[in-house]
Amino acid sequence: MPLVIAMDGPSGSGKSSASKGVARALGLRYLDTGAMYRAMTWWMLRAGVPVEDAAEVAARAGDPKIESGTDPGAPTISVDGTDVSGPIRTREVTNAVSAVSSVPAVRERLVALQREIIGAGGIVVEGRDIGTVVAPGAEVKVYLTASEAVRAARRALELASDQTGDQAADQAATVTVTQAEQARRDRIDSTRAASPLAKAGDAIEIDSSELTLDEVIGAVLRLAEERR
Ligand code: C5P
Repeated sequence: MPLVIAMDGPSGSGKSSASKGVARALGLRYLDTGAMYRAMTWWMLRAGVPVEDAAEVAARAGDPKIESGTDPGAPTISVDGTDVSGPIRTREVTNAVSAVSSVPAVRERLVALQREIIGAGGIVVEGRDIGTVVAPGAEVKVYLTASEAVRAARRALELASDQTGDQAADQAATVTVTQAEQARRDRIDSTRAASPLAKAGDAIEIDSSELTLDEVIGAVLRLAEERR
């Protein structure tokens, strides 16, 4: 049975880098489910849908065509054929995504897409509800955490390096602002009714606060080795 590795955890816990690193090391595919929720949110904002209006978001959830590439070396995400890898990382999308992702119709649609991509397995999947809802049968389930301060610092660094040109204003995001925005997002993500961020009962928790990226990847690879 091809392996499925579920990597869940809050924002800034280091999930993306670790997940891609594990997928590359094992020759597996990689799926960033957060990018799919961001792509949906980007489309809603662009379509002028008020993201706090859950009924309106639900009514439009079936409209955008969202496609995810699964190469860990060059993951792609597109909406209606347009590559949105850059635009989905703006602060505007980041601050709206939790409202959109809390709408059950959005989750149903994206979870179905995610299960289609996961298919027979051979993939590392990162998100918030992979071990609990999307792939409860995953052979390896990791819940990655880090202290709030470490997570905010990582996010601020990501924002600064991701953004260019007309997104330059976003770079004004200070660590303090990032920390407040992130705490708000994590609060919404973990308290929503529809599949909240949660550690699966059978997930192994890894606290990455004091670990290097290679150490986190090594820990996950050891777990994968044990479950094979
Ligand atoms: O991982 P990332 O920070 O890109 O995720 C963006 C947002 O997408 C999260 O804050 C959360 O609201 C939503 N998300 C989710 N379920 C997932 C992955 C992400 O609700 N499996």
